[in-house]
Amino acid sequence: MQEFTNQKILVVGGAGFVGSNLVKTLLLSEPQEIIVVDNLLSAEKENLPKDSRVIFIEGSITDNNILAQLNSDLDYVFHLATYHGNQSSIHDPLADHENNTLTTLKLYEAIKDLINIKKVVYSSAGCTVAEKTFEQAEATTEDAPVSLYLDSPYQISKIIGEFYSNYYFKRHNLPVVKARFQNVYGPGEVLGAGQWRGTPATVWRNVIPTFIYRALRQMPLTVENGGIATRDFIYVDDIVQGLILCATKGIAGETYNLASGVETSILELANLINELTSNPTPLDFRPKREWDNSGKRFGSSEKSRTQLGFESEIDLPKGLINTINWTKNNFSFIEKCIQKHHNYMN
Ligand SMILES: NC(=O)c1ccc[n+]([C@@H]2O[C@H](COP(=O)([O-])OP(=O)(O)OC[C@H]3O[C@@H](n4cnc5c(N)ncnc54)[C@H](O)[C@@H]3O)[C@@H](O)[C@H]2O)c1
Repeated sequence: MQEFTNQKILVVGGAGFVGSNLVKTLLLSEPQEIIVVDNLLSAEKENLPKDSRVIFIEGSITDNNILAQLNSDLDYVFHLATYHGNQSSIHDPLADHENNTLTTLKLYEAIKDLINIKKVVYSSAGCTVAEKTFEQAEATTEDAPVSLYLDSPYQISKIIGEFYSNYYFKRHNLPVVKARFQNVYGPGEVLGAGQWRGTPATVWRNVIPTFIYRALRQMPLTVENGGIATRDFIYVDDIVQGLILCATKGIAGETYNLASGVETSILELANLINELTSNPTPLDFRPKREWDNSGKRFGSSEKSRTQLGFESEIDLPKGLINTINWTKNNFSFIEKCIQKHHNYMN
């Protein structure tokens, strides 16, 4: 972590779930400053730590005025901006393009000649690469083939971001490392954070915060397609450590999976959360979501383990207990963010 001491770091999308957790950890290493650029599309300003070394610029990284303000002596860049998530992108592909594809292109154009930059870390998504299967899943490796028939504009944007990362690395020597995340969960993921993005997924975001919120309210957890789908859940502190390892030890031009390597079915997850929250309400079984073909998947962490020394340390029960406690402690804030969208939801 001493690599970041006295350094100037840019975190694009730094007010978001992963970004704000990253900023908090980076502050421990005494950086000179952390510039956060975020348009608060899917984030709340309150998530960012109040610290004089954090300079918050509210707006889009596609905005030329903001790009012109960036310091030319940046040392590290973490690019976490996205149009969250799959369902919002299906609802509004152009907004996805603006905030999930153009963001990467304009950022790289602006920083391609900055000679101080030691590393750019791009946050990619395992869901783009994983094989679409409801049969037995194999651990997805970094060199797995990518389908040309992806399920959502979100997934397309994430892989285009990888293409641009590769292009700017090869053409301009921009030292980009691509970190492919599996499903991240943990404290700081605020249901309803940010602006209405056209569907109830604005509020419900991902499965773990949704299940925890509903279980704490003793509501039924909704399980689609018998809960047979599987995911690789990785705790946010582990992702932050992985991002830091990508920045400090990752080889420019390379891709690393940040995965727990553990496959958990949605049914197992629902039962575990009900047990940990003492939710007595039975599960609510529903049909499969029509757009969602990524049935079973988990990531291989072999390459990041052997080449970066990355190890996911927090297992699912421990991570869930931490997330449940955080949710209880922040319940009124979360309720407030959910309520913002009340009129759209009805
Ligand atoms: N959370 C996961 O499970 C997961 C899985 C795979 C990949 N990822 C990737 O990790 C990154 C972080 O995800 P997250 O879960 O923290 O999501 P998030 O929605 O909490 O964070 C994304 C941030 O980007 C900001 N943003 C959107 N458009 C922007 C723009 N034009 N300019 C500047 N900021 C903009 C949002 O306001 C938000 O703060 C994303 O790139 C996402 O695709 C996340």
